[in-house]
Amino acid sequence: MSDAVFRTLLDAASAKYRPAGPFAYHFARGKLGADPLFRMLLQRGMFPAATRVVDLGCGQGLLASWLLAARRLHDCGRWTGEWPAPPKLLGLRGIDRNLRDVARARRALAAEAAIVEIRQGDLATLEAPDFGPVDVVTILDVLHYLDFAAQESLLRKVRAALPAGGLLFARVGDTDAGLPHRLSTAVDLAVAFARGHRLPRLYCRSSRSWIALLEGLGFSVHDEPMGTGKSFANVMLVAQVPH
Ligand SMILES: C[S@@+](CC[C@H](N)C(=O)[O-])C[C@H]1O[C@@H](n2cnc3c(N)ncnc32)[C@H](O)[C@@H]1O
Repeated sequence: MSDAVFRTLLDAASAKYRPAGPFAYHFARGKLGADPLFRMLLQRGMFPAATRVVDLGCGQGLLASWLLAARRLHDCGRWTGEWPAPPKLLGLRGIDRNLRDVARARRALAAEAAIVEIRQGDLATLEAPDFGPVDVVTILDVLHYLDFAAQESLLRKVRAALPAGGLLFARVGDTDAGLPHRLSTAVDLAVAFARGHRLPRLYCRSSRSWIALLEGLGFSVHDEPMGTGKSFANVMLVAQVPH
């Protein structure tokens, strides 16, 4: 993708946050621009062509804004031929427990209410109906905020909510990464603090342990290489419910 198209995408996805205040706008711009995760999801065509998404721990709803902006560029003929067509979102439900993030997300995505719904809720106590109809669940940099039992319980519910062929994208830390993992954890704590959270306790696992947990729940799992940069100690696990 050319720098110009990427900048247009970044501008469009972050502009949504201007009404939600300077923090929301600059945070969106900084994260969407610097974190290779968002680029990768589109560049590798990881979503089905038309899809219903549940984004668990959605924060201020960056994923929704990013995917919608990408699809709009595509639909008005300004997409790049080098990357696959962005997914058409049939619905996206974001859930987060942080009231300030939920408020920022709702404000930024108010015009998208036909497609995007942001709920306030605790992932540790989600029930099956909270998922609604879904093809892809995303849990991006969130699972380590839940204790080990809650992680397993949540992933079990995700597995039950997804249809055959359904996908889970989980970006998680990897304790086997050593120093990079410890640095990454320190960054997470600092960001959580800056976003108005209390300093949380984190519950981390090795990449092998995450994969074993997901496979034990009946997913088939692969690790999508993240490359370098901000996500230096994170792994992106793609877990699929067998057909
Ligand atoms: C590092 S942020 C990631 C936000 C978003 N996934 C993204 O990539 O921009 C972690 C998010 O998880 C949310 N979170 C942590 N524990 C949670 C819980 N038990 N229930 C709901 N949300 C939770 C936090 O409020 C925060 O917004």
